[in-house]
Amino acid sequence: MQWWREAVVYRVYVRSFTDSDGDGIGDLEGIRARLGYLELLGVDALSLAPFYPSPMADHGYDVADPRDVDPVYGDLAVFDALVTDAHEHGLKIIVDLVPNHTSVEHEWFRAARTSKPGSPERERFHFRPGRGPGGQEPPNDWQSVFGGPAWTRLPDDPEWYLHLFSPAQPDLDWTNPEVWADLDKTVRFWLDRGVDGFRVDVAHGMSKPEGLPDAGGCRDDPRFDHEGVHDVHRMVRAVVDHFPGTVLVGQVDVRDDDAFARYVRPDELHVGLTYRLLECPFAADAVRDAIEDSFEAVAPTRSRPSWALADHDTVRPVTRWGGEARARAMALVTLALPGTVFLYNGEELGLPDVELPDEALQDPRWTQSGGTDRGRDGCRVPIPWEGTAPGFGFTSGEPWLPIPAQWADRLVADQLEDTASTLSVYRRALELRRCHPGFTGTDVEWFGAPQDCLAFRRSGSTLVCALNTGTVAVPLPPGDVLLSSGPLRGGLLPPDTAVWLA
Ligand code: BGC
Repeated sequence: MQWWREAVVYRVYVRSFTDSDGDGIGDLEGIRARLGYLELLGVDALSLAPFYPSPMADHGYDVADPRDVDPVYGDLAVFDALVTDAHEHGLKIIVDLVPNHTSVEHEWFRAARTSKPGSPERERFHFRPGRGPGGQEPPNDWQSVFGGPAWTRLPDDPEWYLHLFSPAQPDLDWTNPEVWADLDKTVRFWLDRGVDGFRVDVAHGMSKPEGLPDAGGCRDDPRFDHEGVHDVHRMVRAVVDHFPGTVLVGQVDVRDDDAFARYVRPDELHVGLTYRLLECPFAADAVRDAIEDSFEAVAPTRSRPSWALADHDTVRPVTRWGGEARARAMALVTLALPGTVFLYNGEELGLPDVELPDEALQDPRWTQSGGTDRGRDGCRVPIPWEGTAPGFGFTSGEPWLPIPAQWADRLVADQLEDTASTLSVYRRALELRRCHPGFTGTDVEWFGAPQDCLAFRRSGSTLVCALNTGTVAVPLPPGDVLLSSGPLRGGLLPPDTAVWLA
C-alpha cells in the first residue's frame, strides 16, 4: 500500500501551529485540536517537525532524547492520542529522524564532555586534537552550514568536536555500532507507536570521509554525500519494511541527478525531497526545467518525484516570488503534477515572510553568522487562526515570534468563508486532485505555449495545467476551466495566473 505516491503531505512546524496551554509555543495538543481543519483542507498526511526533548538551540533539531516528547510540546500520552485521532480523521503521521547529530544535552554528549580523549564516550562523536601550536586551530578547515568553523573546542580540553550545524548539535560518528543500534531503537520505538513514516533530516549527512580531509584539497564538498550514508538508509528501510504502509522520506540536498537517484533506490528512501521548485525563479522556462530535472533525477529508479514550494528553512513563496498571485499560480502547477506534494503550514493562507526586529530573532544562523544572516525565523511565524491581535487564536499568551497585526486579513476563519481566498483555492485544488479522474498518469507531456507561459498535461489524461509568468494575457488553451488561481476574463489567461482545464 504505497499511499504516499500521490499524497499531499502537510508539514507542521509544531512550535508555530497551535498552542493549547498559553505558553506562546505550539504543541501536540494544539495539533490535535486542528485535525478537523486539516481534514477540511484535504491533505492526506502530516509531517511533524521534531518535538523531542531539546534545549531548542535549533528549535528541536538538536535532539537530547529521540524517544520522548519535550514537555513544552506535551508527552507521549498526548502523542499517542494525536496518532489515534489523526488516523480517525483519515490522516497519516510522519515524524522526523535526526540521525546526523544530537544535542549537547544528549546523555551521550554529556558523558563525552567529561570523559578523556580516546574514551569510548568520545568515540560516538568526532573528537580530534586541534592543529597548530597548542592545538589552537580546528582539526580541519570545514565550515558549519550555519556559518563559522564546524569545530568547537571544549574548555580546558585538548580536543575539538565536529558540528556541521550549530555548536549545540555535535555530529555523531557513524562508524560506531552503538550509533546504529540507537537509531534502530528509535525507528522501532515510533513505529510501535503507530507512525506512518519518517522524514530523515540531512539524509545526505551522517557518513564522513576517512581522515576528515580539508575541504580545500577536495574536489567535492567533503562534508556530505558519502557512500556510507546509503548503508544507513538501507538499515532504516529494512526496519520500515516490516511495517507495511510506512514511508521513508529523506531531505536529500544533493544536486547531481545520478547522486540523487542513489538515495531512492528500491532498498533506500521511498521519497527524496527536492529543492528544484523551491529554488526556481518565477519564469516559465525555469519552472519547466525544474520539473523536467525532477523527473530526470528519479528516472533510473522506481521512485517518483516529490514537490514542495515551501518549508521551514526557506523564505515563503509569496515573498520569494513577489506576490500572492504568483504563489497561488505555482501551487496549481505543483498540485497538478504526479508524485508526492509537500505543503508547509501557512502556505495555504498565502502568508508572506515576516521582517522581524533583531531582538525577536531566534534562529542560530543569526548569531552564528555574526548578524549577517537573519536566518529562517521569518517563515516560522505562528499561524493566524481567528480573532484579534496579538494571539490570533494561535495562543492565549505571547507568541514565541510576534504575529504581525496585518495578518488580521490572513485569518483561517475568514479565508474559509471567502470563496476567492488562497485557502479556498487550495481546498478546491486538493479536492479535485483527490476526486477528479484527470489526475492519472505518472509523467507529464508538454504543449507548445506562448512566450513566458507553459502548458502540460498528465500523461494519458485530459487534465491540462497552464501557467502565465509573463506580463501580457494570453489565450486560454482549449477545454473547460476546472480551477484558476485568480480571476479569468474574456477567454484569456492573465499574467501571474495558472489554470486547470479538462
Ligand atoms: C532542517 C533544518 C535544521 C538542520 C539541522 C535541516 O535539514 O530542515 O531546519 O536546522 O537540518 O538539523
